[in-house]
Formats: sequence, structure tokens, C-alpha cells
Amino acid sequence: EKIYVLNGPNLNMLGTREPDVYGEETLDDIATRMEARGKELGFDIEMRQSSHEGHLVDWLHEAQGDQAKAVILNAGALTHTSLALYDAIKSIRTPVIEVHLSNPAGREAYRHKSYIGMAAIGSISGFGIGSYELALDAVARL
Ligand code: DQA
Repeated sequence: EKIYVLNGPNLNMLGTREPDVYGEETLDDIATRMEARGKELGFDIEMRQSSHEGHLVDWLHEAQGDQAKAVILNAGALTHTSLALYDAIKSIRTPVIEVHLSNPAGREAYRHKSYIGMAAIGSISGFGIGSYELALDAVARL
């Protein structure tokens, strides 16, 4: 079964981007870990990143067309602003799990609202790369 792992703006900069907040591992490191855990669980991981909102909207639709079992989504800052991503999640039957490396609820007030969280089946935040792996474990329980 296919699992889409979609990453939004600036997540291509992981490793050098605010390492005190987001850690020193890169998006490629996350992809490697997800592929390994996916293999254990029998999942085929489709890992993507874009800083463009519309690409993420298109990929959410594509996940449904592709009969993906679920989408794991870290929408980056679009989490807190994007009604288009909220609507895209609502427009597909494919379950979406929200993930964040950091814990936005413990950060600035402007990160407290999540459009993704309002449409997703659940959210995992604050465990660094572990948030992604936990999301995969959650998919295995669906
Ligand atoms: C993030 C949290 C967001 O608030 C922020 O804009 C990001 C990364 C995270 O994974 O912790 O870009 O989604």
C-alpha cells in the first residue's frame, strides 16, 4: 500500500534551518527513516516536498486518485494559514495525519491555529523525526 508523505514550505532546508528548533537531520534523512519503517510495515513511501501551496493541493488530490492508504502531511507554515489545504483535505476520502517536528502549541501564538488539524484525522507534534515515524505507526493501526 502506498503512503504519501507531503512536506510544505522550507522543509527542504532542514539540517541547516534553525537546528535548535528542528534538529540537524535533513529531509533526505527523514525519507531514509520513513522508507525503512515503511518497509517493516509493508508500505510503499511516496515522499515529496514543495514550497508551493498549489502543489500540495494537487498532491492531496493525487493521493486519492492513486488509492493511497493515507497521507502524512507536514504543511510547514501553511498549517496556520491555508484554507485551501483545509478544503483539499476535506475534498478527499483519503485519511490525512498532521505532523510537526516541533510542538506548535508550545510556540508563538500565531502557530497555535492549525487548518490542517481541523481537517486531519489526528495530529502528532513535538517528537522531531519521531513525529513522522509515529504517524506511520498510526497509519498501520487505521
Ligand atoms: C513545522 C511548524 C510550523 O509552525 C513551521 O512553520 C514549520 C515547521 C514543524 O514541523 O515543526 O515550517 O511544521
